[in-house]
Amino acid sequence: MDAMTVVKLGGSVVTEKSKPLSFRRDVVVRLARELKQSHVSPLILVHGGGSFGHPVAQEHRIKGGLERADQIPGFARTVLQMRDLNGRIVEVANELGVRAVGFPGSTMFVTEKGRIASASLDAFLSCLEARMTPVTCGDAVFDRAKTFTILSGDQIAVYLSIRLKAQRLIFLVDVDGVYTFNPATQERVLIPAYHGSERLVPLEGGGQEDVTGGIVGKLDEALAAAERGIEVYVANGLVPGRLLDLLSSRKTICTRISP
Ligand code: IPE
Repeated sequence: MDAMTVVKLGGSVVTEKSKPLSFRRDVVVRLARELKQSHVSPLILVHGGGSFGHPVAQEHRIKGGLERADQIPGFARTVLQMRDLNGRIVEVANELGVRAVGFPGSTMFVTEKGRIASASLDAFLSCLEARMTPVTCGDAVFDRAKTFTILSGDQIAVYLSIRLKAQRLIFLVDVDGVYTFNPATQERVLIPAYHGSERLVPLEGGGQEDVTGGIVGKLDEALAAAERGIEVYVANGLVPGRLLDLLSSRKTICTRISP
């Protein structure tokens, strides 16, 4: 198989985080067009939860695991809402000519204390071998220690990138990349390369509830992939052309994660 590309579509890109269950169809249409135009293959898509995942997971305290039986309908609802979002993304992708097939995270991953402990990838790998694009997502999943938890799309994207030896991993978010703080000017500055020690200014997600750790959690995951030689980028998925630039190996506004 040729060099693999993994793209994580942040929940703040594919949904409006501040409005429950608001799918950004227009954005997903444009991103699917950029994917199609790039001819990149093989390709794995992973998406986050945004307003389909975080509010319901937070309401029922799914990340902390099973404490009371009345959380179970909330767990089931989180899975259902993520399937709904996954289905919408897959549908749009196919409309634009990307041969996408959905594999929600809860159907493939079991965690132990929140970290992926096993992955049933048979069907997922068959999908790749058939030259189609599997689309998975952060999800409410079963956990060996806590019965259930929330698994982020970021952890999945890194896990799959490492396991399938991806060449490139692109995180699309709703800001231009990773920002640090310039104490002299009191301003935030975009850093073209993040090495793991810079002081961060958290910007992603506009302060809405995020049950999986926001930008700091993302960067911890991302560094693990970069340490294994994978090219890792954080870029703005809301600005037309940035994804296509990265996929075409063109210079663009973004942050490269490199240890
Ligand atoms: C979270 O996945 C999934 C749920 C909340 C069910 P992510 O952590 O990858 O989601 P975003 O990208 O931050 O929205």
